[in-house]
Amino acid sequence: MPFRSRYIGLIDKYRDRLPVHDDTRIISLGEGNTPLIRLNNIPGILGKEVDIYVKYEGLNPTGSFKDRGMCMAVTKAVEEGSKSIICASTGNTSASAAAYAARAGITAYVLIPEGKIAMGKLAQAMMHGAIVIQIKGNFDAGMQIVKDVAEHAPVTIVNSINPYRLQGQKTAAFEIVEELGAAPDYHCLPVGNAGNITAHWMGYREYHENGIVNNRPHMVGYQAAGSAPFMRGKMVDDPETIATAIRIGHPQSWDKAWVVREESEGWFDECADEEILAAQKMLTEKEGIFCEPASATSLAGAMRDIKSGKIPEGSKIVCTLTGNGLKDPDSAIAQCTSPMITVEATMDAVKRAILDNMD
Ligand code: F0G
Repeated sequence: MPFRSRYIGLIDKYRDRLPVHDDTRIISLGEGNTPLIRLNNIPGILGKEVDIYVKYEGLNPTGSFKDRGMCMAVTKAVEEGSKSIICASTGNTSASAAAYAARAGITAYVLIPEGKIAMGKLAQAMMHGAIVIQIKGNFDAGMQIVKDVAEHAPVTIVNSINPYRLQGQKTAAFEIVEELGAAPDYHCLPVGNAGNITAHWMGYREYHENGIVNNRPHMVGYQAAGSAPFMRGKMVDDPETIATAIRIGHPQSWDKAWVVREESEGWFDECADEEILAAQKMLTEKEGIFCEPASATSLAGAMRDIKSGKIPEGSKIVCTLTGNGLKDPDSAIAQCTSPMITVEATMDAVKRAILDNMD
């Protein structure tokens, strides 16, 4: 019986397009190859003829898109003889760094803003054995410290300023093109440091320049309104948002992201926290897909631009859902307004509860 060869991760699949050698020891957890799900119900709710797909990056091994970049960054760190890695993080990078460091048998130091990361992410970093350093400051402060520390200590930075991160993350664009048979018309992403939007554009450009595809999308980056330096046109010193993953005021890929906007003829916009949470809820209730708040920013912005006609009918749109909803159970439960029903453990009580709650 013929079997298809086993998928063993994106470095193996895209080896020819990534900076690895035949004898490179690949540190992988089977990342990539995430589902591209067509939304069945939301276009109808919007009353618009559009094709919306979500790229569910929350199904990567540690539950976020970071794994695409982290497998490359850790593979190269190990190849270069590094025994430890370091990052500042709003949560997902730290979870991913911790897991890949564990896989490689090296140490991960992660700096996180005290009290401002989702529980699931903290649990991951701690369980994988990272040295977790909480700082009394935000991500931007942590990032600066990490850069300073790396100048004095033998540690490899695995934030997205590490160029291998973006190389790994560009593969998401490859997967989308392969699945759709073309690039979408619009690709919408949540933006924090702007590494991911930059990486996606690298991927689309590469396939276009190599003649694999003859179109490229408009890249659209959405930020949380309280953390929207691209909208303000300058760095923001006190970023705030419920979408803690993108609570970033000093994006590391600032210049690159402006180039992406220019080259792709895209745009940046911002979404209020309420809009972000409403999009997250709509996606879970109407499509059965659970992403974390920051991830829903891509859909929140896209829905608004579809409704206004800025994204015209007939368009094919991809929204990246960067992280899994299970990462942040606290914000999810807090926004569920209907109370849980508690009854006696009897058939009658349960029957009454069912009848009382019928549509
Ligand atoms: N969505 C999620 C779920 C994220 O965790 C991040 C970034 C982004 C979007 C933004 O991506 O920075 O490439 O523009 N999280 C980083 C972290 C900062 O530390 O986990 P970006």
